This record gives sequence, C-alpha cells and structure tokens, in this order.
Amino acid sequence: MKTNSKVVEYHLEASAFSWEISTGKSIEAWGFNKQVPGPELRANVGDTLVVKVTNKLSEPTTIHWHGIRLPAEMDGTDAVQKPISPGETFEYRFVLPDAGTFWYHAHSNETVQMERGMYGALIVEDSTEEIMTDAERVFIIDDMKLDAKGAFTKPRWFIPRVVERHDGRQGDTLLINGKENPIIEMSAGHLERWRIINATSARYFDLYLGGNEFSIIGTDGGLLESPIPVKSQLITPGERFDIVVGPFDEGDVFSLESLRYNRMTFLRPKPEKFASIRVGRPVPSVAHVPDTLRTIVQLAVSNAEINRRVELSVGLSFKDGMDFLINGSTHVNDNPVKVAELQVWEVVNASLMDHPFHLHGFFFQVLEENGTKPSYTAWKDTINLKPRSKVKIAWMPDNRPGTWMYHCHILEHHQAGMMANFEVVADGMPIKEMPRTHKHH
Ligand code: C2O
Ligand code: CU
Ligand code: CU
Repeated sequence: MKTNSKVVEYHLEASAFSWEISTGKSIEAWGFNKQVPGPELRANVGDTLVVKVTNKLSEPTTIHWHGIRLPAEMDGTDAVQKPISPGETFEYRFVLPDAGTFWYHAHSNETVQMERGMYGALIVEDSTEEIMTDAERVFIIDDMKLDAKGAFTKPRWFIPRVVERHDGRQGDTLLINGKENPIIEMSAGHLERWRIINATSARYFDLYLGGNEFSIIGTDGGLLESPIPVKSQLITPGERFDIVVGPFDEGDVFSLESLRYNRMTFLRPKPEKFASIRVGRPVPSVAHVPDTLRTIVQLAVSNAEINRRVELSVGLSFKDGMDFLINGSTHVNDNPVKVAELQVWEVVNASLMDHPFHLHGFFFQVLEENGTKPSYTAWKDTINLKPRSKVKIAWMPDNRPGTWMYHCHILEHHQAGMMANFEVVADGMPIKEMPRTHKHH
C-alpha cells in the first residue's frame, strides 16, 4: 500500500424528499443527503473509504459499492449484512484497491429504492495516470417511469405487471445527474473526460454525440490499454464507460442521446435525447491522452477450459406470468469457488431478450463472445448478453472469502429470480496475489 494513503470519510443519509428534475417539476424522490444522485464520493486508489449510512427511510436498506473489490462483509447485500433499519446507522469501511468509475446504490427493494434515486458515483483517482484532460465530468444516466401527475406508481393489473417484470421498468422521464435535459457548456478546443454510469433499472443506453467521434479510455474496472475511437457506445444497466470527447468548434451544438437499441422487449425502441451540448469560446487546451494507457495482463487464453456454465433463461409462472432463471431456477445458491483458483465461466443467454450479467466484487475479462475474441481487453464487472448468445469470462477469486453474488442488472429480472449467491472459500493453500495490472512507462 502507498504510504500516503488516507482515510476518506463521508456520511450519507437516506431519506424521502422532493427533488426538482426541471423547473417547476418535482418528484417524490428517495435518495442520499436530499439529492439525486447522491453526493459524489471521491478518493485516491489505496485510500480507506469510510461511509456512515443513516437510514431515515421508513423501510430497511443496504448500500452496495458496485465494482469495488472489497471484503465480502462490506458488499452491501442482505446475504452479508443485516439491512439497516429505519433510524439506524451502519458504517461501511474498505480500502479502494483500483482506480476507476464506480458507483453506489441501494441493494434492498432495488426496484423501488433505485428507481426513486438511491444511487451515486464513487470515483477512485490515480495520481500517476498520465491522462490529462481539460475538464472531467461524471454523468449518471437514469430514467423514471412517472404517471401524468409525476408520481411513481406500480402497475396494478396482472398484464401490465407482467410487462414491467418482463421489460424492466423503463420510463420516459430522462435524467442526467438527476435533471431533465440539462445544457452542458464546453469550451471550444477542449478535450474532456466524461465518466458515464448507467444507473437505470432497465434502459439500454447507446451513447451518441450527434455523430462526433469520441474515444473510450476506460470501463468498469478502469483504463483500457489504449483509447478506442467510436461514434457510439452501448452502456447497459450497471456498466460504466470513461470517454474523451472533443475538441469541438465554437458554436457547435449537439445532443447527448441514446440511439435506438432493440433489446427485444415489448417496448418500442427509439432514439432519445438526454442533454444538449453547447460549445462556447475557445480556451487553450492542456490535454494529453497517451496512446498507451496501461497494460492489462491477460488472465487466461481464449480456449481455456470452462469450469462453470451459467445459463440465463425465462420460464413461465402461474403467479407472476414469468420467472427469470439461473440454470433453471430462481434465486439460486451456486457452487462455491476456491480462492486463487482461476474461474472460466461460460455465461449463456438462452432467452429471447438481452440481459446485462453482473458479478459482484471481482472483475472479469471476456475471453470470447459467441466464440470470437473481443477486439480489446478490459476489466469488466457487467457484460451484456444478446438473445441466444454466450460469453466466456475469466476471473480470479483473490483472498476475499465470503458470500458473493451475480445477477442480471435489469432490476426487475434480478428481483424475479435471475440471481445467484455463491461462496468464495479459502482452501488453506498459500494465496497468490491476483495478477492485475501494471502501469506502462
Ligand atoms: Cu449494481 Cu447487485 O449490483
Ligand atoms: Cu455490484
Ligand atoms: Cu435480465
């Protein structure tokens, strides 16, 4: 550990409050410190993060630190902690081992608590990174499904209830950092780093900046090896992408929008605008984005032997219309894995709709997608599976025994059973350090 590591402390108070999403338009939000998103938490890699969470809601909650490689007891699921009762305070405390764009969110009654705004960004910086941009922004994408009066309602009747369970809750109130259609002002000539977090319940956000090219520099588990230029990037629920945008010319105006993406539900896919970007006067740039960002050590060869198969599927249910399944069952207890034993999993989507698969507490590398090696190496904790597709992932259980989980990050699917708990068990063998990343110089 670096010697200059600090203890960084925050206090989050969960409560219900009124939140203005645009002028004169307020919602009955639930969130942290009376804001949506909750406060942005920032620290440096190696720091110890201490977050005291006080629950002023009328129901229990837990907070999950999505993407952080923390001890199992701090993961914020109800498998590892007693939910924080109304009036209680719980202290989360863990070291931040990786730099990157992470986030925190409620992990109790998620389909209600997250839908109403219980999420925020957790940014872990690394001062040795060589990337220099003119500005950095964090954009948290969300949508809310509200009735004509701006209230959260739940479908009462069987069919609409089944449809929401099937599609996931996707609404027409589109938010960036808790606001509808904000205007983002940039300076001409600048390169900015944008950290984008998809905090929606179910929306597939296919980022598009009016046709302007941008570079992906990082994803769930931090930087890529080198920037990847693109014109759009799909960001599924739970995923993060760090991008570099610009330079633009003075007077440029374009939208930050999501392209049409058909995830094979009852919803009609359409392009949707989340924000407007306006480029003002030029300001000299100090930005520098190196061609090599870091080296990522390959965890396994692409034809490594598979030691577990996880199948996502949909089944019929008399009570709820349909269930969302892992290996044929809902809310599964999967087999344990051993510390330091490389995991090579084949995750199969046998259903006819997309699912974002999320693993808690560990990063994986995608070895193959439908039999082909992905075009670049990355550390991921959430990966989309298209209908009737499969991915082969590798991950290393480092020495953090305890109960962990994986699930579909469409919250309604998670709730409807598409999740599993499993144990990471120490086997008495000497533990190898997890082969992770090396900075490139
Ligand atoms: Cu953001 Cu259980 O996950
Ligand atoms: Cu998570
Ligand atoms: Cu799903």
